[in-house]
Amino acid sequence: MYRTHTCGELNKNNLSQTVTLAGWVFRIRHLSKKTFVDLRDRYGVTQLLFSEETNLELYNKIKDLGREFVIQVTGKVIERSSKNPEIPTGEIEIEASEFNILNKAIVPPFILEDETDGGEDLRMKYRYLDIRRNAVKKNLLLRHQMAKETRKYLDAQNFVEVETPVLIKSTPEGARDFVVPSRMNPGQFYALPQSPQTFKQLLMVAGLDKYYQIVKCFRDEDLRADRQPEFTQIDCEMSFVEQEDILNMFEGLTRHLFKTVKGVDLAEFPRMTYAEAMKYYGCDKPDTRFEMKFVEITDIAKGKNFPVFDSSELIVGICAKGCSEYSRKQLDALVDFVKRPQVGAKGLVYVKYGTDGVLKSSVDKFYAQEDLKKWADAMGAQQGDLLLVLSGEADKTRKQLSELRLEMGTQLGLRDPNVFKTLWVLDFPLLEWNEETNRFFAMHHPFTSPKLEDVSLLDTDPGRVRANAYDLVINGVEIGGGSIRIHDRKLQKRMFECLGFTDEEAQHQFGFLMNAFEFGAPPHGGLALGFDRLCSMFGGSSSIKDYIAFPKNNAGRDMMIDTPSSISDAQLKELNIHLSPALSEGEGVKF
Ligand code: AMO
Repeated sequence: MYRTHTCGELNKNNLSQTVTLAGWVFRIRHLSKKTFVDLRDRYGVTQLLFSEETNLELYNKIKDLGREFVIQVTGKVIERSSKNPEIPTGEIEIEASEFNILNKAIVPPFILEDETDGGEDLRMKYRYLDIRRNAVKKNLLLRHQMAKETRKYLDAQNFVEVETPVLIKSTPEGARDFVVPSRMNPGQFYALPQSPQTFKQLLMVAGLDKYYQIVKCFRDEDLRADRQPEFTQIDCEMSFVEQEDILNMFEGLTRHLFKTVKGVDLAEFPRMTYAEAMKYYGCDKPDTRFEMKFVEITDIAKGKNFPVFDSSELIVGICAKGCSEYSRKQLDALVDFVKRPQVGAKGLVYVKYGTDGVLKSSVDKFYAQEDLKKWADAMGAQQGDLLLVLSGEADKTRKQLSELRLEMGTQLGLRDPNVFKTLWVLDFPLLEWNEETNRFFAMHHPFTSPKLEDVSLLDTDPGRVRANAYDLVINGVEIGGGSIRIHDRKLQKRMFECLGFTDEEAQHQFGFLMNAFEFGAPPHGGLALGFDRLCSMFGGSSSIKDYIAFPKNNAGRDMMIDTPSSISDAQLKELNIHLSPALSEGEGVKF
């Protein structure tokens, strides 16, 4: 037996017991005639005492010990003279009587403490060492607990977990596919699933009624803090349901997770239409931890000979409470913020509503006090507030103001990661016009049902058709999304037409699904939650990498196994892939 206990469980109740522990040498402290070793395993840290007076032989033996050596120690549990209230084992130590080095270790390339000196790439290269750090390990344990509670809830609701294939045919979810060449079918490829969307719908046709899967999805898209090329969804589908049933079910799951994992009782989830979200927050995933809603002042601000406003489609602002004392420097920084290429505004108009009741603006040349007072009234501003106004083309201006609103929320400390504000965003548009390709795309995916009352608009004004689609947003993060699906072959065919598919193309790509719809498809719908995002939100971080055991970096590389990487000529030959000379320099592959 390697150990009788773990390094996290011994306390005063175990005093005088003889125990054996195994783990990694975390810290070594030599004092006069005594050496203390902190022994670490997954469960915690226990202090070991080696004393020159009580066991000279052993005391001399541990001089060879180095950080991260794997050892096994036997000894007696005794009370510590200087206690550490920070850890559960902090009242005791083990007076060592025997120890074995199970394995030596070379010096780790970075410090394995909560605060480390290792940069991200180095930590990723040695991720197995990084995971020894409590800061990373606890995230993986949190993830495990979330997965366990998810299964518990969904099992209790009669969902069945079904595995769907990973080598599939491309499903159009908007991102690029990762593809896998087929050796047995030269020149042909599988695609890795962007989600199991079509399979879960087929499982409904198959009569499974309620499906779920905690499943890997793959998308070849630009990476950010909340996006990885392979990520995990809690993917679900239900039969004989309406939107309301799905919202209730997954509000229930989210509430269960918050309650069991974080001890947080969530209030009923508010709902907002997509149109309202865009109008009041300029984005489809508003952070509702704070108000600062948009107020449109186009009517009152136009026509006063301020050329920028007079030529704008939309003039819209936010009111930053208590910020009228912002300094010139702070205001200039806000102007710089909105002018950054990522935001893209040309400028920013501000109005300080002084505590003395005087309104001072960056456009005083064009607007008198009574004009500015009208803006302030429209925006519900009071003395001491600051108005920030942007103008221009409507959609772009809203997006820019949304960025500024979030920045102000951050500056004013209104985005506390320990406060959780949930929101269902409903009634997304079915279709989205793409300027570059001059055609409509499905905003969610092509299987999403239009609202039945809007179906006739498909012929006259497709851009105005609303979908039975919904997103779950928490603290401004899109945690999940789903829809009621089309289950009627004719409507699905009509949808493909709107998306510019010919009959042949639709049949070629989705014949399997449309055919299935002819064999008695039940009304169905579902949703998928981004599991990595949910975990990072629970852990209080905005980077999902911290919650993935072996993530990719922002260039899509795994620094540890060093991939993507080239494959051997023999493998290429077998797969019928011919590299042109330029190719070996990594420019591409010809088939
Ligand atoms: P959707 O594309 O909205 O829907 O994805 C669902 C959720 O998955 C998360 N997500 C990601 N997380 C990390 N990295 C990524 N690259 C990434 N992409 C998406 C988000 C998102 O809300 N099949 C549909 C669901 C359905 O209709 O049932 C789908 O995949 O949190």
